[in-house]
Amino acid sequence: AEVIIERTPQAASARAARHIAATIAARPDLVLGVATGSTPAHLYRELARIRDRDGLDVSRLTVFALDEYVGLPAGHPESYAEVVRREVTDALGLDPSRVHVPDGSAADPFAAADEYEQRMEAAGGVDVQILGIGGNGHIGFNEPGSSLRSRTRVKTLSRSTRTANARFFDEVDRVPAHCITQGVGTILDAGHLVLLAFGAGKADAVAAALEGPVTASVPGSALQLHPHVTALLDDPAAAALA
Ligand code: F6R
Repeated sequence: AEVIIERTPQAASARAARHIAATIAARPDLVLGVATGSTPAHLYRELARIRDRDGLDVSRLTVFALDEYVGLPAGHPESYAEVVRREVTDALGLDPSRVHVPDGSAADPFAAADEYEQRMEAAGGVDVQILGIGGNGHIGFNEPGSSLRSRTRVKTLSRSTRTANARFFDEVDRVPAHCITQGVGTILDAGHLVLLAFGAGKADAVAAALEGPVTASVPGSALQLHPHVTALLDDPAAAALA
């Protein structure tokens, strides 16, 4: 991976936003993969700012989210469908029909996962995929032990992920136990992976992913199998790198 270290998350996010904006300008029909969670929020704000300032044309952009909780009612404010609507679709003024999130409220989430994979394939796959990383090394919601060749499917969230995400819900028991997530293999099919990680809590996961052995115990280590990865880190998240 190409590793870029900035002093602050803001600086790293602005750099990522500039790169993605330039890529969209060169290729307006880009398929962009988006992560949710705290890490990319500033990147999306920066991208919206560039759009407003420079008149970047995002009307032909297609967006695919990485993952979604299973079992939240449609419209739940912490569902990733709603997070993506607020932070990406509305912020950038995208046509909602071009923005895709796995259907976590489907009667049959297994079928919804298969259908999502087919929708991605029909769109020609993801060109640029934005990724965060869990403190446990997950990418998407591919928890430790996930097959490095996995495709979009239903997964059980680990206790550590549910605890980490309890901040978005009233208590950890309200965090859904299951999700639909793009597989590690699905993520690796994207043309360019842009990993963002900020804060000391990510340092060990970042070092394990970028410099440790390639292992299903650290799904982020699968990034080493991909020929085009850019990791944008702040100083604390880079602290455990060699
Ligand atoms: C979110 C996702 C996760 C997060 C990761 C980090 O769509 O796929 O892998 O990127 O859990 O979350 P934050 O950014 O909240 O620390």
